[in-house]
Amino acid sequence: MLALARFGADPLRFLDGLRGDDRDVVPFSLGPVHCHLLRRPEDLKAVLDDEDWPPLSRGRLMALDRWYGGGLILTEGAEHHRQRDELWKPLLADPRTPAIAAARAERLAASWFEGAPVELFGELRTLFWSIDWEALTGEAPAPEVLAALAAGTDAMQWLLGPFGRARWGWPLPSSARTRAARARLDAAIDRVIAARRAQPADDLVSRLVEREPDDDLVRATVKQWLGADQLHALVTWALYLLARHPEVTLDDPRPVIKEALRLYPPIWGFFREVSADYRLDGVTIPKGHVIALSQWVTHRDPALWSDAERFDPGRWADGARRPPDLSYFPFSAGPYECHAHHLAMTEAEVVLTALCRRWSFRPADEHPPQPTATGTIVPKGGLRMVPTARS
Ligand code: HEM
Repeated sequence: MLALARFGADPLRFLDGLRGDDRDVVPFSLGPVHCHLLRRPEDLKAVLDDEDWPPLSRGRLMALDRWYGGGLILTEGAEHHRQRDELWKPLLADPRTPAIAAARAERLAASWFEGAPVELFGELRTLFWSIDWEALTGEAPAPEVLAALAAGTDAMQWLLGPFGRARWGWPLPSSARTRAARARLDAAIDRVIAARRAQPADDLVSRLVEREPDDDLVRATVKQWLGADQLHALVTWALYLLARHPEVTLDDPRPVIKEALRLYPPIWGFFREVSADYRLDGVTIPKGHVIALSQWVTHRDPALWSDAERFDPGRWADGARRPPDLSYFPFSAGPYECHAHHLAMTEAEVVLTALCRRWSFRPADEHPPQPTATGTIVPKGGLRMVPTARS
């Protein structure tokens, strides 16, 4: 129970502690849950490439069904492939989203003033939700939509915790607030679905309803698009790293983004549950246990990366020597990899370039931000930065 309390209080410090263990598979327990953290890139690859679900599954993650009500993340097997290929793929390749990202990032940059601190994490979260909503619906999100999305983000954490699924129905103020937020978000999405079924428009929901007759699945897909987007965390940390390293220029944003994804991976860890004994490189992971995979641990592993804690975009230069595959997996890998990977990289480039064309930043506070693990890696208390106009 002690480990569970330590993990709950500060997951990243807890994982830092496991990084010091030199076993290839590091066992640890979180309350009644027995976990096995994979350290070797080869083992990470074997598990992520494995399409045998069962014995692997997302297990506890299914509690997110309370918020999403179905959709890709909660689906396995042939239907998972169908949704990825038929529903998501054409939408993710649509050029509208990067164009909206560029226009909205320009507008955000134009709203800032020289020397007046901005809280970047919050501003960027609203920016990316607004880009998503506009790409999906052709409209700007109403304040109640943004508030409902924030409530959903908070709920993800307790839904994944002990009694998460049951807590949804409890007479607690937080549960009641989340249920109400879900009802408001669903109603806003349902209005768009009904309107686009009646009269298609130039947006992604129109393309979705052409392909999918089931309104519940269309709604869940829209919600997962909004809920899975981790770009605000990525761009926040990229801007922080650039502010701390004025010697790094942004001629090519890609190496900076890749290095930000290495040091502050928005998805800092995830897991697979095993429903039958699972053999992995001479170790048996018993039925009912959990395999833990952590980008936070692997990306900063000194056994894999030289000077692992140092921000060095030069690692991503063509021809630079890098550790083996799966020493780096910000978007996961294999059949359940983030299929929005390429869109996410493009959007991050577009937004970072637009913001940095106009401004450079310096931290407004003396103390460095404390990375804290929630659904993503958040700077505790936000990240206040002071913009300075580029000449
Ligand atoms: C920096 C940005 C992003 C990062 C680091 C990221 C990371 C990830 C990771 C690690 C997974 C796999 C999780 C697992 O296997 O359990 C994943 C899956 C997923 N991501 Fe992303 N993601 C990002 C942006 C986005 C965006 C912008 C979207 C939507 C447009 C998105 C939609 C999804 C969906 C729907 C899945 C589930 C895929 C499946 O089950 O087949 N992600 N993401």
